[in-house]
Amino acid sequence: MFEILKRDGLARIGRFTTRAGEIETPALLPVVNPKINTVPPRELQEEFGFKALITNSYIIKNTPELKERALSEGLHKMLDFDGTIMTDSGTFQSHMYGEVEVTNKEMVDFQRDIGSDIGTVLDIFTEPWWSKERTAKSIEVTLERMQEACSLKGDMMINGVVQGSVYHDLREDCARRMAEMDIDVHPVGGVVPLMEQYRYSELVDVVLSSKKGLDPSRPVHLFGAGHPMVLALAALMGCDLFDSASYAKFARDDRMMFIDGTFRLQDMQSLDCNCPACRGHTLETLKKMGKGERTKLIARHNLYQITSELALVKRYIREGRLWELAEMRCRAHPALLDALRRLREHTDFMERFEPVSREGAMFYTGPESRARPQFLRYAERVMDRYVPTFDKAVLFPDAGKPYSRVYADRFAMARSKGYVPVVMSPFGPVPAELDEIYPIAQSLFPSISDAETDRESEDLTMDFLTRMGFTEVISSDDLPEVEAADGPDPDLIRAEAVARYQFGIPAADALFRGKIELVKSRKTGKIRNVISDGEHVLSMRAGDGLYTLRAEGAARILAAVPAPWMRVVVDEDAAPFVAEGRNVFSRFVRGMDPELRPMEEAIVVAPDGRFLATGRALLTAKEASAFPKGIAVKVRSGSGDDA
Ligand code: GUN
Ligand code: ZN
Repeated sequence: MFEILKRDGLARIGRFTTRAGEIETPALLPVVNPKINTVPPRELQEEFGFKALITNSYIIKNTPELKERALSEGLHKMLDFDGTIMTDSGTFQSHMYGEVEVTNKEMVDFQRDIGSDIGTVLDIFTEPWWSKERTAKSIEVTLERMQEACSLKGDMMINGVVQGSVYHDLREDCARRMAEMDIDVHPVGGVVPLMEQYRYSELVDVVLSSKKGLDPSRPVHLFGAGHPMVLALAALMGCDLFDSASYAKFARDDRMMFIDGTFRLQDMQSLDCNCPACRGHTLETLKKMGKGERTKLIARHNLYQITSELALVKRYIREGRLWELAEMRCRAHPALLDALRRLREHTDFMERFEPVSREGAMFYTGPESRARPQFLRYAERVMDRYVPTFDKAVLFPDAGKPYSRVYADRFAMARSKGYVPVVMSPFGPVPAELDEIYPIAQSLFPSISDAETDRESEDLTMDFLTRMGFTEVISSDDLPEVEAADGPDPDLIRAEAVARYQFGIPAADALFRGKIELVKSRKTGKIRNVISDGEHVLSMRAGDGLYTLRAEGAARILAAVPAPWMRVVVDEDAAPFVAEGRNVFSRFVRGMDPELRPMEEAIVVAPDGRFLATGRALLTAKEASAFPKGIAVKVRSGSGDDA
């Protein structure tokens, strides 16, 4: 059972429950080699707080003494660990040393019989250098073995490893076919060579193409990813579980993990580490130590690096800023920077999971930030949903925000002369009336711009001007200095433009019908409520400049815009509860507009289409249909009547 507690795009803080307890994700499972006890499992649990570990059932099965003990006393007792134990199947040994002499059935039976909580299919490791044909053939074998594993697993959970080498379509297809099976966790496999060779941009393609095919309600494990430097990026792509053998392997060769890389003790100039393992030590004391003692110290140091980075990743997810942490981390190495740049190829997929607004301001830290879904979302919506008030436009440079305050007089002048004021922002063209919506106002850019963003801003603006069909476009320098005469009410232009941007043009037409009154804040003068023909249809939020939809507004959209636009359909059984104002749980969702994004205003309806409530979507349509538990729509107010 896996539940999302907090999300940030594809990243999630989740609660994963196994029969041995609960694990908060993202979580890392330290690899315990049953033959080498570098850090004892009890210490992993008690000192480091690991709730789960991973060990290798193939090694156990091939070591007579361990095999005997595991079968007679069980894995938990043998390892002295009462948390969740995941086992791997021997696939990695076949990658390292060639064929393994076991069958899938033997391995799954064995894992189940020794009491593994999560076993693994004997998948075929698809190497990055394999041909597409060879890869495709081996995936068929893995899928057959997966079917068999599902039938043998009993009450053990099972890992369905997504393979496919570097072929995106094969990855996605493998993932999609596994999504149909009774699988509990999905490791993305075959990626260790990519990480060892610093081929991080390919790792991005592989992970995201696997994610596209998978069932979003199952946790995703990135097999072999345990270096702290990749955790933020991997979590950003929606990986929930990780494992690390390196903490111990590296320690045995005197290599210390840090957030910016791995360093050999002999190459280090000083030991600048304040972790509990290193505290009180210097490079010299470390070097003088006996080998065994030092290995243990470095292993513990490595584990502290991992746990502190994981804690940070979780904090950034909670704050809705994980992208910013990933940007910082990916600047530690050129190969990771490639990964960050490659994300841009996947922005359209990531956009589906991007909330319509976030609490804090978005930070732009360089051209790579343009991969963030906010850029794509804004550009698409302004192109498709903006309707100009006039047929002429005047272009302003970005000279500080909010634009309508910085340029208050000039905007008024432009409008009185029949021009739409448009600011060339890093997001592209921003018509004056959209300057307060997320992320336009809620973003920070350096004041010294870069060529890439300047060029893209210009390209987007040119596109926009063409699309809007303006008959004349001038620069703000050419705007004549005149007294602003009376023009149309700028607040009314803003009110309507934001509604179109947020709900689409047909819905906005329904909301702005007849006589419009705007209620404004006495303190700030900002729009608070929109009253149309005497009905309060919308309220504007001060934080993100976007609307919350009122029941009267929702009813108008239902009448004017065909399904499934903005709708979440719930079971008839749940209708009375939702109408009373209770939240919509995913198990009651019958259907949902696939265009709804997290935190977007949603209209909850009964199967016959009648209005039940307004609220904000927390899940996407695909997630709502996949998750057995959790809130799909946070309901603001119900219709009050259920009949
Ligand atoms: N450990 C690291 N990579 C893999 C993989 O692709 N499959 C399995 N089963 N274990 C792994
Ligand atoms: Zn340390």
